[in-house]
Amino acid sequence: MSSQTATTAISPREKYYFLARRLHSLTGLMFSGFVCFHLLINATVLTGGESFQFCVEKIHILEHMGILVPVEMATIFFPIAFHALFGIVILLTSQSNMKDYPYGGNIRYTLQRLSAVVILVFLTMHIWHMHWLGKPFGGAQFDPANATSTAAAAMQSWSLWAPIYAIGVAATVFHLANGIWTALITWGVTIGPRSQRVAGYCCVALGAVLFVAGLGAVRGFMTYSVADGNETAAVEQVEESGH
Ligand code: HEM
Repeated sequence: MSSQTATTAISPREKYYFLARRLHSLTGLMFSGFVCFHLLINATVLTGGESFQFCVEKIHILEHMGILVPVEMATIFFPIAFHALFGIVILLTSQSNMKDYPYGGNIRYTLQRLSAVVILVFLTMHIWHMHWLGKPFGGAQFDPANATSTAAAAMQSWSLWAPIYAIGVAATVFHLANGIWTALITWGVTIGPRSQRVAGYCCVALGAVLFVAGLGAVRGFMTYSVADGNETAAVEQVEESGH
């Protein structure tokens, strides 16, 4: 009797698609790290305008070293650009979720995709609104030299900014927390049902903290008195007194 050996040939196309999926996951994780940091720093506005200004100045030390833009591009913009572009490919090509996830995860699978679309719109508006990249298009209202008052003035310049940011924060936090949970499976960290359940609790807790921080920051900037903005003077005073 002749024995038949079953071999599964992987085409170059499948190999590159697999690598792209892994890179998509990795860039999602990289951007998740940045978002955690970003939302927590923004929430410092709740403890006073000078706290937020202080944090922004610490980050902008990189600017004085001449490496802020390259660091920002390498760790934030290129990863999210790849994640978003390949995410659109996934959105356009994925069909049923039944084969990828157990039945209980179907809602989360769909929400992951819906939240991606909301983030895409929100992120474009947010970059235009606050980041220097928005300058040629009449945006870029945030100035790191007067961080709290310019962010607050930008937020208070239109009554719809607060609800838009609240929706953006909600979509981002859901996508991030659910994404970290699936990424742990993707990378083989949580294999069994027990570890996936524990990871689920941790992701819900992380999502809750970030959601509160994000909404707190929106509230903090909406209620900050721009006219009294003296955050730069306050930071200078702290630095002069050596604290
Ligand atoms: C705040 C910005 C974002 C963060 C922090 C983020 C993070 C993540 C993470 C950690 C994952 C899980 C990857 C995995 O399962 O291995 C993920 C999945 C996904 N992301 Fe994002 N993402 C963001 C924005 C976007 C955008 C703008 C899009 C595209 C429009 C997008 C599309 C997707 C899609 C389609 C998935 C599901 C992939 C799958 O099920 O295999 N994401 N994201």
